[in-house]
Amino acid sequence: MDWNHVSVLKDEALEYLAINPNGRYIDATLGLGGHTAAIAEQLESGEVIGIDADRDALSQAQARLESQTDRVRFVHANFAQLREVVEERNLESVAGILADLGVSSMELDNPERGFSFQQEGELDMRFDRETQTLTARDIVNTYREQDLVDIFREYGDEKFPGRIARIICEQRKKQEIQTTTQLAELIRSVVPGRFKDGRIHPATRVFQALRIEVNDELNVLRQFLRDAVEVLDEDGRLVVISFHSGEDRIVKNIFRELASAGHGDILTKKPIIPTEQEIAENPRSRSAKMRVFCKHQ
Ligand SMILES: C[S@@+](CC[C@H](N)C(=O)[O-])C[C@H]1O[C@@H](n2cnc3c(N)ncnc32)[C@H](O)[C@@H]1O
Repeated sequence: MDWNHVSVLKDEALEYLAINPNGRYIDATLGLGGHTAAIAEQLESGEVIGIDADRDALSQAQARLESQTDRVRFVHANFAQLREVVEERNLESVAGILADLGVSSMELDNPERGFSFQQEGELDMRFDRETQTLTARDIVNTYREQDLVDIFREYGDEKFPGRIARIICEQRKKQEIQTTTQLAELIRSVVPGRFKDGRIHPATRVFQALRIEVNDELNVLRQFLRDAVEVLDEDGRLVVISFHSGEDRIVKNIFRELASAGHGDILTKKPIIPTEQEIAENPRSRSAKMRVFCKHQ
């Protein structure tokens, strides 16, 4: 268990949620439960519903939190199903919703999950291995070359999508590409020399793009944002922390759309970013951007 996991922008998220000790909150991305625990600490009769698509994350968070608090309920679901979660459990009032998007350090560090190019593992990348069937291995070995190019460019801002897609298609004719390190090496072999040993591994963007495609993350996010604002109470707050430009753009645009349709106000003119101290302590927070919406009818 990764007890050293650090929740990104925790103080800032709590400040914007402006917790009512008797309110009900939803943490749509429970992960290891860092944000959920911080919310629960401020509750009296209120509760937090912690959602995660990943059964492993849920059971670890549950094991960790149950000894500390009885204010948390754990739900295995994709946050695209937020409305169903709220309706099925008759959660009539929701004072605030938090989403801290992407992958947790626990998922990243487990080679079996296939999220990381640092350790050898099967190319998987599904958040929910029970209900999702498409894996990164399927994408790499079956998608058309042009589709790979588009995914790498759009979801990863990859500079060399064509070369990478080409070498993948050449390689898979000889032998299926099965593992994270196999793919990472292949990518490294075709990027120009000066990009091979930079601060960021040359496979970073392609891995991000594959993860987004496997989990349909951008469509899921769009659905979630609209439904979240719908299920919130009057004056309820939606706090979203994103980690790359594609996600942040969606959050920014949907918040603008909702504000101009009269559903509420954007509380963050500019996104909130981590302090230098937070980045020094937790480099993963480097690219985080937090935006907040407050609902009005
Ligand atoms: C960055 S981690 C959250 C960390 C958490 N805030 C903490 O403090 O420990 C993101 C979590 O969201 C989950 N997740 C990602 N997309 C999801 C989705 N569409 N529905 C439900 N959970 C999702 C991942 O499985 C992961 O556990």
